[in-house]
Amino acid sequence: MASKHAWKVDLVPWDHSSPEHVERMYDQRVACGWRADEVASWVEYAKKGGRIFYWVLFSDALPDREVLLKKHVEDYPKEAQPLRDTAPEIRLVPREPTAKEFIPIGHVALDIHSAEDDASLGLPSPGTVWIHGLYISYALQGGGYGTGAMSKVEALAAQEPMNATTTALDTVSKETVDDPDIVRALNEELTSPVTSKEGWYRRQGYEVYKKGIGYTFRTKAGRSIDLIVSYMRKTLG
Ligand SMILES: CC(C)(COP(=O)(O)OP(=O)(O)OC[C@H]1O[C@@H](n2cnc3c(N)ncnc32)[C@H](O)[C@@H]1OP(=O)(O)O)[C@@H](O)C(=O)NCCC(=O)NCCS
Repeated sequence: MASKHAWKVDLVPWDHSSPEHVERMYDQRVACGWRADEVASWVEYAKKGGRIFYWVLFSDALPDREVLLKKHVEDYPKEAQPLRDTAPEIRLVPREPTAKEFIPIGHVALDIHSAEDDASLGLPSPGTVWIHGLYISYALQGGGYGTGAMSKVEALAAQEPMNATTTALDTVSKETVDDPDIVRALNEELTSPVTSKEGWYRRQGYEVYKKGIGYTFRTKAGRSIDLIVSYMRKTLG
């Protein structure tokens, strides 16, 4: 069932061939605090038809959108310029871009992992679509836009050509944020304090089916921190 917040947002595909889209993705990852250094590799995946990002934007139906966008741009002046919907393809499938201008308030990605990887996690393959990299501007969090974006991206995953029956994701576990040494080390590096969104994803209907070291964070001083992540899944439909 669609979330009560779904009407608030729309999704527009990231154009990995547009320097403006790539720069905005980098700026939003810096603001998010995680994985800005991976943007160049996401361009390469996208060129091969791999992981595809979508911008999250306010829907035309949202009454306060101009006021809210002003709040976002005040906090993130680098994001003041609108982008245009220019992506000519999604996962190598041609589409007709609308050329419409928009200011993205965040982003989220869909991906299909190898059948072996999914099988090793006990996930159905085909049928599992992964959701990665969800971010909503810190200036706008708590307004239902993250929930709305999840609802919209799950609906996309369930459609042709992905036909998901299950969506999967991983996220920093509660255990990670209970470890004071890890929290101290991460907070020295991140632009915002580390939190676990496990409870938030449970509210979106996800269940934890496994925990394990899922990501190695490298500090500027050269320390490698293995982070325990929660692997979560949701059956669609
Ligand atoms: C996670 C994130 C996308 C959430 O976006 P958001 O727009 O702030 O979330 P929403 O406003 O849609 O959430 C609102 C709902 O979640 C509930 N909620 C908020 N925090 C919660 C928590 N810790 N546990 C459970 N529910 C929570 C609210 O009560 C509200 O419920 P309602 O829909 O019934 O009213 C956002 O915080 C973010 O981008 N964080 C930084 C990046 C990040 O951590 N990404 C996820 C890592 S995998």
